[in-house]
Amino acid sequence: MLKRTPWLAMAIAVVLLAVMGRQSVQADESAIAMGKALHEGSCLSCHAARFGGDPYKIYTREDRRKKDKESLLQMVAFCNQQVGTGWFDDEVEAVTDYLDATYYRFKPE
Ligand code: HEC
Repeated sequence: MLKRTPWLAMAIAVVLLAVMGRQSVQADESAIAMGKALHEGSCLSCHAARFGGDPYKIYTREDRRKKDKESLLQMVAFCNQQVGTGWFDDEVEAVTDYLDATYYRFKPE
């Protein structure tokens, strides 16, 4: 029994890691889906009006302003305040993650 214990512990650790890894991937995906829905609900019309009807051009144009994730997060938080969407911090982060994953594609720090 003693000899088998390390293997058992390792097997359990491997299973736990696999399960936890999957959960964090799912959490990321659902946060991004939540960010997309929030963004579509509150942020499209005004950006579209400024960029010839394409609300996403503001994120893909050559001279877009935000050059790193921290300042993108600040801008999302700022627009959230200005627009009065009243998102909580985790929702601001979800929208930031969605914009990053979809348009900005900043390198992870
Ligand atoms: C009332 C109009 C308006 C609404 C509504 C609005 N924005 Fe903006 N947004 C702007 C303007 C104006 C800019 C700056 C455009 C520029 O730099 O030329 C901007 C820029 C941004 C940028 C920076 C883009 C870049 O250049 O990299 C982000 C990110 C952003 N907005 C996110 C949001 C989010 C998230 C929401 C929804 C909560 C939102 N905006 C709603 C007007 C608006």
